[in-house]
Amino acid sequence: MKISIDTRTAQEVSADLLAIPLSTVRGRNPKLPSGLASLDRSAGGPIRAVLANRDFSGKAGETLLVYPTSTRSRCKRILLLGLGNAASVDAESLRRAAGRAVSQAGGKRAGRVALMLTDPKLAGDLDNVQALAEGAVLAGYRFDDYRGKRDSDSGPVRSFSLLLGREAPAREARAAASRGTILAESQNVARQLSNEPANFLPPVELARAARSVARETGLKVRVLDVAQLKRHKMGAILAVGGGSVHEPRLIVLEHRPSGSQPAGKRPFCMVGKGITFDSGGISIKPSAGMDEMKHDMSGAATVVGAMRACALLDLPYPVVGVIAAAENLPSATAYRPGDIVTAMSGKTIEVLNTDAEGRVVLADALHYARTEFDPCAMVDLATLTGACMVALGRFATGLFGNHPQLSELVRTAGDSVSERVWPMPLLPEHKDEIRSQVADIKNAGVRHAGASTAAAFLWHFAEDTPWVHLDIAGTGWTSKTGPYQPRGATGVGVRLLLELLRDFDESRLEA
Ligand code: BES
Ligand code: MN
Ligand code: ZN
Repeated sequence: MKISIDTRTAQEVSADLLAIPLSTVRGRNPKLPSGLASLDRSAGGPIRAVLANRDFSGKAGETLLVYPTSTRSRCKRILLLGLGNAASVDAESLRRAAGRAVSQAGGKRAGRVALMLTDPKLAGDLDNVQALAEGAVLAGYRFDDYRGKRDSDSGPVRSFSLLLGREAPAREARAAASRGTILAESQNVARQLSNEPANFLPPVELARAARSVARETGLKVRVLDVAQLKRHKMGAILAVGGGSVHEPRLIVLEHRPSGSQPAGKRPFCMVGKGITFDSGGISIKPSAGMDEMKHDMSGAATVVGAMRACALLDLPYPVVGVIAAAENLPSATAYRPGDIVTAMSGKTIEVLNTDAEGRVVLADALHYARTEFDPCAMVDLATLTGACMVALGRFATGLFGNHPQLSELVRTAGDSVSERVWPMPLLPEHKDEIRSQVADIKNAGVRHAGASTAAAFLWHFAEDTPWVHLDIAGTGWTSKTGPYQPRGATGVGVRLLLELLRDFDESRLEA
């Protein structure tokens, strides 16, 4: 989808669908903003008519399609979109409105869409412009590569132009729209990887996908195969990956800023759980819903998408992405309950449940990230526990960490891009809970506080590096569609990470 800023007026632009977000309208004969009044006149007055009939009130989520009656009109359809109360309109309201515009246009096979902001205050805010681009690109995503085309299928929206009015600063608006486009396309890359079924995306294919993103964007990439994992003594990821004919891999993506940057800056590091399919292994899962476990590499997918965005936005400091990719299957070579495995750090892990595999692979990924790159901070993303899903549902990502300032930065970044995260407890007691009688730690404790004990396990490997763990078990995919969200993978975390890194500086971690 091509996103553009168009400085012309709505009457001058030809479009298959012109979307107009409006906040709550009062009375039958409200005063229309001048741009809207003249557009309505040139269209033969359909907007005045629906307002006079009170067929549209502007409440959040409301949509109404109206048709120009004048032959002078250059747009075929006008879609009114409710934003809700003017005072509470924010970037997310506009992200949603743009998403609704694109979804409705797709259903009508309206390939050229324009969206007009009638309120100069909204149009002047660059975060709003960015959010509109995001909503449009995100809503344009479909996972339909494996499906033959049908007559009933909607047509893709090809172009989306933003009409911001004469006063809006066009150059800055173009930069904001381009940033939003990069972020949303990167989130779509993450969604696509997460949606790919496990037979098409085993660890080796995930590595290939990471390589091709790296080639396109100028990231550096390194993939450790089994021989190299053995050389690094990564006994944890090797144990989990040992049950499948599809070998495990450790994937490393590196962004080095272009231009002259002060050398020796410590990188920011993101780490992703990349279980390409989680059957549970020998501790096998019930079959109902097991298909969803193709998404168990959503953390890894987010890391690939976010690293892509880091490169395309050319962030001014180094960022590293580390992915632990493995398939968790039962077989004659699978790791078993009772096994004791030695992680790269030297810590021994008693395996009590082979279905608690995410923390095991992350043990090696976190230790590798720390020791190889000496990061100033690490954030890991993982579809780690059913317990986190029970606690927070699909409404928030669970946040755990060892560094209050970093946790707070992550939380506020999530809030500002509408990828909500919720602070969860991580206590020394949770660490005690996973002490083993026969090894240093065990990979599963009692059921209670399951999301926290999983985080405590990771803490053993993050050690004293400032670190946040995001449990995206409930937010990584969804069976409910949203204004810019189809069923399936969400790509959650891409926008959050890039917002966190927007003006990140090591000094912000100091109290
Ligand atoms: N990938 C699952 C967690 C999960 C469950 C994510 C449902 C999304 C939806 C993880 O590997 C797992 O199986 N965790 C176990 C841990 C338990 C055995 C200690 C769980 O949460 O039940
Ligand atoms: Mn599992
Ligand atoms: Zn898992």
